[in-house]
Amino acid sequence: MSFTYDPPPRFTENQTPLSEETYAELRAIAARYPEGRSGLLPMLHLVQSVEGRVTPEGIEACAEVLDISAADVSGVATFYTMYKRKPVGDYLVGVCTNTLCAVMGGDLILERLKDHLEVGNDETTADGKVTLEHIECNAACDYAPVMMVNWEFMDNQTPESAIQAVDDLRAGKDVHSTRGPKLCTWKQAERVLAGYSDNLADEGPAAGPSSLVGLAIAREKGWTAPEGAARAQSGNSAGQAARGADGSHEAERQDTEGAIHRSDADLKHEDDTHTKGEKND
Ligand code: FES
Repeated sequence: MSFTYDPPPRFTENQTPLSEETYAELRAIAARYPEGRSGLLPMLHLVQSVEGRVTPEGIEACAEVLDISAADVSGVATFYTMYKRKPVGDYLVGVCTNTLCAVMGGDLILERLKDHLEVGNDETTADGKVTLEHIECNAACDYAPVMMVNWEFMDNQTPESAIQAVDDLRAGKDVHSTRGPKLCTWKQAERVLAGYSDNLADEGPAAGPSSLVGLAIAREKGWTAPEGAARAQSGNSAGQAARGADGSHEAERQDTEGAIHRSDADLKHEDDTHTKGEKND
């Protein structure tokens, strides 16, 4: 039996060098963090906002700004599914096909969209407008089946509403997220993910009725949150008192050592119990 290996698509094609303005923004993102490398994720989003995907030039630029290897950057860029190696259309349409959405109609929506757009999974329409992909749970199960357009929620979809949405987007009409602002292009959304606000965060409803059912029931019943926060606060005060009036940490040190010894004793007890259990087996 012989095996063939299909290498993943390479970052190819003719790319123009990133502009000085983009380099300046990459440096500005890195400078937001005590360790510049922490800025790599938003930097890659910035690359996508300019290039439409993560290009070799984008990888080299991030590596140069952060003084790390291109392999380090590439390892991150190829790990997360939000970073794309192939060009993405103006609208990245993701249909959730995880369990709840799937049984509520997600599978059917994806199939209908494939037929309607004449694309397969992770493919872009001929006009470059829509890239279709199936996605994992977006923590919006209370609105299943869910579709995402450029990471904005389109809740409680049907095959008909999903087709209408992509048709409107391709026709250049305004389409609004069900819990957010008017949909922008993928590149614009990527710029927001890079940390450059479009000041639309407060546009549209933040939480819909389905997410607030628990709160409504709690209010109706007079339920309140457990007093964990208050206990933590009083525990903190006790700890501060234990430090002593002179501000020394001797009492705190003794407390810590006592806790370590107790932990050791607990572990030994668990170990003994475990060993006994094994012997009894
Ligand atoms: S299963 Fe689709 S959002 Fe959770």
